[in-house]
Amino acid sequence: MRNVTLVEIFNHRITQKYLRRSGIHHAVKTTQYAYKLAIDYGVDVDMATKAALLHDIGHYEWYREGKWDYDEYRKHDIHAIKGAERAHKLLIRLGEDRLAAKEITLAILLHTDSYLNFSVQDFRTPLQTVVATADEMDEQPKGLHHYNKMEVKEAITLLTEIDEKINQHYKSKLVRINSSKLFIQDK
Ligand SMILES: [Fe+2]
Repeated sequence: MRNVTLVEIFNHRITQKYLRRSGIHHAVKTTQYAYKLAIDYGVDVDMATKAALLHDIGHYEWYREGKWDYDEYRKHDIHAIKGAERAHKLLIRLGEDRLAAKEITLAILLHTDSYLNFSVQDFRTPLQTVVATADEMDEQPKGLHHYNKMEVKEAITLLTEIDEKINQHYKSKLVRINSSKLFIQDK
């Protein structure tokens, strides 16, 4: 039913290259929050978790002389734009449904408005709001959440768990749809 899983996305060399820059820990934690929020608010959980996993894939190195330079980074930051483009290319390459890839890409593009001189808060769709909120839930002052550590092995274990829960979620939805059809037919 799902064209691509979170683990398949995570294992791709492009994801590995760029997620290490912005932090695997933050990507996985945001995915976990997005899963919970999407279930709670009835938002597409497959798209929400994929957008959450990839939301910071557009980050670039922001070290200067080996040290974190947050102010310099903020001045030039367009990570949401770069990330949206990178994620779209990656998702299409992995065989994601084209319409889903577009929705995921837009959620990445609008997960923050820190690079704009206006707020998009009131204009986000429910999917975009879930991704932005999940990101905020793991944020720490001065971008320190990008520095929390998580091993690749642990990330794969946690993403496998979320993949299984999502598959289960869609299976139970299908059972409900089928049984409601049966109910209608029985009448
Ligand atoms: Fe983030």
